[in-house]
Amino acid sequence: MDKLAIIGGRALYGAIPISGAKNSALKVMAASLLTDEPLTLTNAPRLADVDMLLRLLARHGADAAFDDATLRLHARDIASTEAPYDLVRKMRASFNVLGPLLAREGRAKVSLPGGCAIGARPVDLHLKALTAMGAAIELDEGYVVASAPRGLHGAHIAFPFVSVGATEHAMLAATLARGGTVLENAAREPEIADLADCLNAMGARIAGAGGATIEIEGVERLHGATHRVLPDRIETGAYAMAVGAAGGELTLSGTDARLLGAALPVLEEAGLEIELLDDGLRVKKSPGPCRALDIVTQPFPGFPTDLQAQFMAMMATAEGVSKIKETIFENRFMHAPELARMGAKISVDGQTATVRGVPRLKGAPVMATDLRASMSLVIAGLAAEGQTMINRVYHLDRGFERLEEKLTRCGALIERIKE
Ligand code: UD1
Repeated sequence: MDKLAIIGGRALYGAIPISGAKNSALKVMAASLLTDEPLTLTNAPRLADVDMLLRLLARHGADAAFDDATLRLHARDIASTEAPYDLVRKMRASFNVLGPLLAREGRAKVSLPGGCAIGARPVDLHLKALTAMGAAIELDEGYVVASAPRGLHGAHIAFPFVSVGATEHAMLAATLARGGTVLENAAREPEIADLADCLNAMGARIAGAGGATIEIEGVERLHGATHRVLPDRIETGAYAMAVGAAGGELTLSGTDARLLGAALPVLEEAGLEIELLDDGLRVKKSPGPCRALDIVTQPFPGFPTDLQAQFMAMMATAEGVSKIKETIFENRFMHAPELARMGAKISVDGQTATVRGVPRLKGAPVMATDLRASMSLVIAGLAAEGQTMINRVYHLDRGFERLEEKLTRCGALIERIKE
């Protein structure tokens, strides 16, 4: 298993191109199963998670060609409606093939998902939505077996709480359902509107995506399209937080600061100077520690749970005490003991972590536990004195494109050790 060695204590200067959003790419890729015509995605990130989903889509009969950041998918015929455990367990987003397969073929058998070990993460809301649209669903030895021989129909679905995955799944399935579907208490993450834009370019009739109520008028068939994947807001925020922790000045290009939602004012209050550019943002940290701040993770436009770990790394050397409350996932502080190995003073009580800023972190061997937690260790390693060795970097490869290359170009000493 590869490791990353980082010699910290160097400020970052330069430019980082932000990749297309992993969390959007995975959903628009699943949309390719809804049509027998080609779907071309530009600004597609080349990530382990994307490759994993490509393997699954190939099994369903989709041809794929990745050229630079352009991904062409073509599911002319559905070769199989079964998504096996081996391909679904490693990544939760693979589960989203269920709705498209069901909508197009009237049946599907998909393994229950896996993904980061950050909580129980059930799929009950996904299944309720599909059931409301007329699917008969059974659970059989770890598989969801779903059928809708006469097709799906529109439904009025009010989610009891916000779920990104369930909102996307319902939207994907409803595009080909008979009649209209209304999704209430829908997730408002930018990736939802991105998926709707892609589906609408394919001929779907979706209104209101990005708001709490989404209306979908089912159509008979979808056609091919070309769609540009929106920039990765989590990658954007993570590099901004790296500047907060290590110092320096970075231009983050190919992105949009507005995608950061509540994280943008938080970065500014913590002491980063942020200049909005036409094609991204410039982030600058004057010498001296960040200011400690309290945050609570919330669905968009609140502070994203996917930036919580990176924020904690930044707060580890802030001046004062920061309280970080995680409300989305129940087990998302696994980075706290790893950061503590580097000298961070963090105590966790239930949903809240209290971080008492220290003047400096010290490099140490640490273990990456999940995708975003891994990035928090990179940020801490960049800021720390001496060498940090991060084990299990395959987590990072799932979601951060060309990480070492992007950081090395900005003056970081970071090296992958292949094992
Ligand atoms: C997506 C993102 C992930 C992000 C999360 C929240 C992708 C591939 N992943 O994950 O990076 O951290 O949104 O912004 O886009 N839940 C249920 N039942 C369900 C579905 C969800 O109880 O059927 C719970 C989850 O366990 C969690 C909460 O709802 O506690 C939110 O999860 P959800 O918004 O669905 O996250 P994901 O779509 O899995």
